[in-house]
Amino acid sequence: MQVKIYKDNQSLSEAAANEIIDLVKKKPNAVVCMASGDTPRLTCKLFVEKTKKEMVDLAHMTFIGLDEWVGIPPENDGSCHYFFQNEIFKPLHLSLSQIHLFDAKAVNLEEECKKMDKITFEKGGIDLMIVGIGMNGHIGFNEPGVSFENYAHVIDLDETTVTVGQKYFKIPATLQKGITLGLKHLQESKKVLLLANGTKKAGMVKKTIEGEITNAFPASIMQMHPRGFVMIDEEAAGLLENKN
Ligand code: GLP
Repeated sequence: MQVKIYKDNQSLSEAAANEIIDLVKKKPNAVVCMASGDTPRLTCKLFVEKTKKEMVDLAHMTFIGLDEWVGIPPENDGSCHYFFQNEIFKPLHLSLSQIHLFDAKAVNLEEECKKMDKITFEKGGIDLMIVGIGMNGHIGFNEPGVSFENYAHVIDLDETTVTVGQKYFKIPATLQKGITLGLKHLQESKKVLLLANGTKKAGMVKKTIEGEITNAFPASIMQMHPRGFVMIDEEAAGLLENKN
């Protein structure tokens, strides 16, 4: 794992957007997996702008969504689906065949997990995974206590996730379960970027980088990834012992 500290969220997001652009330029059929949420919002915006400006051809890339709230339909503006539609798919006119997101309304969620695992394997694995960190150390919906060996799975949401998660919804939502790629997917991804910005994430960032590697704090798995990069701004780095 490497830690990269940026002056602010703008420069952090520019660097993350460039990672996607550079990858797709080098490998047009790249597989990119991303988290939604507040953290990658600016990265998505800059990615869209740069793709248009540099006329990057995305026609052969594959986009995989990291997670979704179980029971929340895609048209709900708090869903991960809605986020990606608006932040990436619509502005860049990605075709449906390139996009793979969890259907959180599927009758058989186990099958939905198998489907996402299969797509990931068939595409040759994830080239670049971009994740955020929850206020309990979760990645995607890999909640505290989750196995590091899981592929896609359905999970009961942690109390913190349920409370914090309301920030995405205009009308309060019933959040009980999540459906998510697992930490085995993260370990097998060729490169992983964990993004965090702002003082509110400083405690989570410290535990991710300087804490014990434990499934009680899932983001600590980043320490084990040979091509794992924790990309943070100065505010999120505020509590680190070692900033070099
Ligand atoms: C959410 C999502 C994660 C996301 C994390 C942080 O609940 N399940 O995929 O990365 O929490 O979200 P934010 O970037 O809004 O702080």
